Amino acid sequence: MAKARTIFFCSNCGASSPKWLGKCPHCSEWNTYQEELIQKETSAEEKRRSWAPTTGGRAESPKATLLQQVQTGRTQRLKTPDEELNRVLGGGIVPGSLVLIGGQPGIGKSTLLLQVAMRVPARILYVSGEESEEQIKMRADRVGEFVSECYILAETNTTKILQQAQELQPQLMIVDSIQTMSTPHLESAPGGIAQVRECAGELLRFAKETNVPIFLIGHINKDGDLAGPKLLEHIVDCVLQFEGDRHNTYRILRTLKNRFGSTDEMGIYEMQASGLREVSNPSELLLSQKDEELSGCAVAATMEGMRPMLIETQALVSKAVFGTPQRSATGFDMRRLSMLLAVLEKRCGYFFSINDVFLNLAGGIRVEDPAIDLAIVASLISSLSDVSIPANICFAAEVGLSGEIRAVTRLEQRIAEADRLGFKEIYVSKYGMKGIDPKRYNIKIYALGKVDELRGALFT
Ligand code: TYD
Ligand code: MG
Repeated sequence: MAKARTIFFCSNCGASSPKWLGKCPHCSEWNTYQEELIQKETSAEEKRRSWAPTTGGRAESPKATLLQQVQTGRTQRLKTPDEELNRVLGGGIVPGSLVLIGGQPGIGKSTLLLQVAMRVPARILYVSGEESEEQIKMRADRVGEFVSECYILAETNTTKILQQAQELQPQLMIVDSIQTMSTPHLESAPGGIAQVRECAGELLRFAKETNVPIFLIGHINKDGDLAGPKLLEHIVDCVLQFEGDRHNTYRILRTLKNRFGSTDEMGIYEMQASGLREVSNPSELLLSQKDEELSGCAVAATMEGMRPMLIETQALVSKAVFGTPQRSATGFDMRRLSMLLAVLEKRCGYFFSINDVFLNLAGGIRVEDPAIDLAIVASLISSLSDVSIPANICFAAEVGLSGEIRAVTRLEQRIAEADRLGFKEIYVSKYGMKGIDPKRYNIKIYALGKVDELRGALFT
């Protein structure tokens, strides 16, 4: 009989120690060590391949290969009918890859992957540790028709799951969720660090050895991190985050890590009564529909990855009632807002220090592209001076500390998108105009050097 023993794991970085430690020597966090009961391993090799048939095995020792001679033909990406997902993954699902999708409860992770399971024309195994087969079928009936050969397995024991997968030989596997899975090799409760790490490790070995891609669904804790923390992000090839406001129908799929593609792509979906719908033209949804022109609104021509997107920024500047004025930003970095306010005070003579400032981006979206700066500055001035900006004007430039308007990347694409959507004027940096021929577009391009020039152009 194997002897039971316990090990302590750091809940922050996943480091382990045979005894409790107050401070983790790896990540320097305090009080993160938690006891996990694990069983003494029977035999490393036996445990490693417990799901595999007993015949065969690897007798020969591994050999190193010359990098130039490594065969790459095998990695034909599996395209899904969902273009948003393909783009986020860098052009389809890579065989043998392990993809983790994280998100708040109820955001639509299971729905998204069930739709993939139903629509990719391949043999698919959908393993659920959260819902029963009937519950999944009920959901499947709501979201559409079957194209794929989709098998459902309600099971949480990884050995049984991998045995079933061996038998079925699916081309894609989905595991909902990694926190509900448990391996019989460990006695600790599912969802614990040791269990999550071990189960993810077993699935990873299965994916790499059989070349079957696996999607894992992961829960997020209240701080917004993936529960069973960072350690999962290191194990998997790809980390996607599904986010959005539960009270809003739009959902955004972002790449946080991707070994096979860029990490600044994003996919946009809309949650409908019949499941998730891809939104292939995001600008139309991020520009609010309104008839009258109001002060405090400005449109930014931003880029998310390779895709241009026009987003409406809204600012409200009002007189502060109490001593310290409030500042609040949704979808935008607070520190950057403070910096832009300081630039406006110091360089342009607009005084915000006695006012509350609220900033909001349409659609509950979060933007990190610095090209949004100029639109935010314009909306702040517009609200402060109560002068509206015509709805057919947009902005694309970064604002520097001395009030200079700085050039941004891919300006041509931004201009072309604004032009396509029928905007009449775009304000950009004069330092980024090299190689851009204004005559090619119907939209009028204003190239500015300093924020102060906005005053003359828009607010007189
Ligand atoms: P779900 O995929 O279960 O979320 P997660 O797996 O991330 O916890 O999604 C649940 C929510 O989605 C639920 O609040 C209802 C909503 N929903 C729809 O609006 N339409 C649909 O067709 C489906 C299946 C779900
Ligand atoms: Mg779910």
